Amino acid sequence: MLAASALTAAVPAISQSNDAELTIRTDQPGATIDPNIYGQFVEHLGRGVYEGIWVGPESPIPNTRGIRNDVVAALRKIKVPVIRWPGGCFADAYHWQDGLGPRDRRPVGINSAWNQSPETNHFGTHEFMDFIEQVGTKPFVSINVGSGSVREADDWMRYMSAPAGSGPAKAREVNGRKEPWNVPFIGVGNENWGCGGNMTVETYAAAFRQYAAFLRNYSGPRANLIAVGSDTDDYDWTEKMMALAMQWRPHPTPLAYNTDRPLMWGLSLHFYTFTGDDWGNKGRNVGFGLPDYAAALKRANFTDELITRHAAIMDKYDPEKKVALAVDEWGAWFDSEKDAPSQLYLESTLRDAVIAGMSLNIFNRHADRVRMANIAQMVNVIQSLVLTRGAKMVVTPTYHVFDLYKVHHGATLLPTELRAADYVQGDIRLPGLDVSASRDAAGKLHLTIVNIDPAKASSIRINLSGGTWRRASGQVLTADRIDTRIRFDAADPFVPKPLPTRLSGRAVIVTVPSKSVSLIEIQ
Ligand code: AHR
Repeated sequence: MLAASALTAAVPAISQSNDAELTIRTDQPGATIDPNIYGQFVEHLGRGVYEGIWVGPESPIPNTRGIRNDVVAALRKIKVPVIRWPGGCFADAYHWQDGLGPRDRRPVGINSAWNQSPETNHFGTHEFMDFIEQVGTKPFVSINVGSGSVREADDWMRYMSAPAGSGPAKAREVNGRKEPWNVPFIGVGNENWGCGGNMTVETYAAAFRQYAAFLRNYSGPRANLIAVGSDTDDYDWTEKMMALAMQWRPHPTPLAYNTDRPLMWGLSLHFYTFTGDDWGNKGRNVGFGLPDYAAALKRANFTDELITRHAAIMDKYDPEKKVALAVDEWGAWFDSEKDAPSQLYLESTLRDAVIAGMSLNIFNRHADRVRMANIAQMVNVIQSLVLTRGAKMVVTPTYHVFDLYKVHHGATLLPTELRAADYVQGDIRLPGLDVSASRDAAGKLHLTIVNIDPAKASSIRINLSGGTWRRASGQVLTADRIDTRIRFDAADPFVPKPLPTRLSGRAVIVTVPSKSVSLIEIQ
């Protein structure tokens, strides 16, 4: 029989405390943390786009040219650096021309990737770029390699980026946009080892090289091409892509791809966290117990090993680290509840915040190679930052983590040395704390700390290896239970609260509660 603690998400009422010691090597600055690590992903799936972002100009829900004002305002606050669109598997069958012109005349298609639901095409290139501009972010457009063609992809790039007045820009202008859009990131396909065409790595590498010869920004700086990388731990895919798809055959004329940069700006990695390792049984996303909590965190913690191993392979071919590892799909993906209002809709709990905090710390710590990451997905799908129900909107615990962590955007990574007790649940043993630290342009230090232990607080002495410090302050996100969830009809229990800190010379003393995500600022 399972112990009572295994059956309930409640944690023991009396919280014990562990002691920990952390040193931040302020004298050993590392890589710059690329803000794009805090990127987002949105796909035509469930209510991710329709209702979540797009309600149409006639909607009673307040909107600007059909795009929800509440969602835009929430996203602006966390300084979203980049948004990947239109998929995902949806992108592998997307034909961009269907999403142009007067909306009432656009063809209604079938979303072949997701439930065969009707696709109105009301949210197309112009609407996406309007959304990008309203949020104040950058586009990352995923090109259809699976069922499309080089010509279709090149035509899309011409449509979006050709200079005003040029031939391809005329159609764009007729549809309301004179100036070209800058398209800094192009995803050359999506999961072409699976929903994007069942390709072998050799087939995909050849396709990538071909597309790379034609895809470009016609009026802006050279576009950054992101090649399809591994599914989780497919290290062979990474090895072969690095061997086969980085280089091109130089040509004596100044062709766009004929530079000293590798063909790919980045190689992607897709990795999802769920309970255990079985895609067929991803575990409940609400009402789970401690064994499920620990199993999910074990998988989230595996992100570190995964990146270390993929990066080691990349180092062999690219020791100067010119090619980024782009984790362009990641997140906590549990089984949706039976009464979920739309496909892949997940309630959001404290566990999601813990997973987000750990994952973002891990990406920060690998900032020398990880220069892009896109959480799946921004609104109403998988590990969302924003949930909507009709006219209502709430932000999730994951949103608050992104808000706390935005201090790391563009900051300099500082190495950390940590001594902390393990968290043990059954046969799962994990480091009890997970941290990353950085220094921003103004010289302030920021430390983000996840205490994964569901029952024990942690008293931490933080040593600073150099510098003179005058002030420290903290904020913490936690809740009563590991599965406390956000609700549309109640106050948000996840809003971060002040966390007492004490500065003493070159040390800061803080106690972080159990199951929490904290931000410490030191100046
Ligand atoms: O994010 C949901 C799906 O997960 C994406 O469409 C696909 O790329 C991945 O398998």
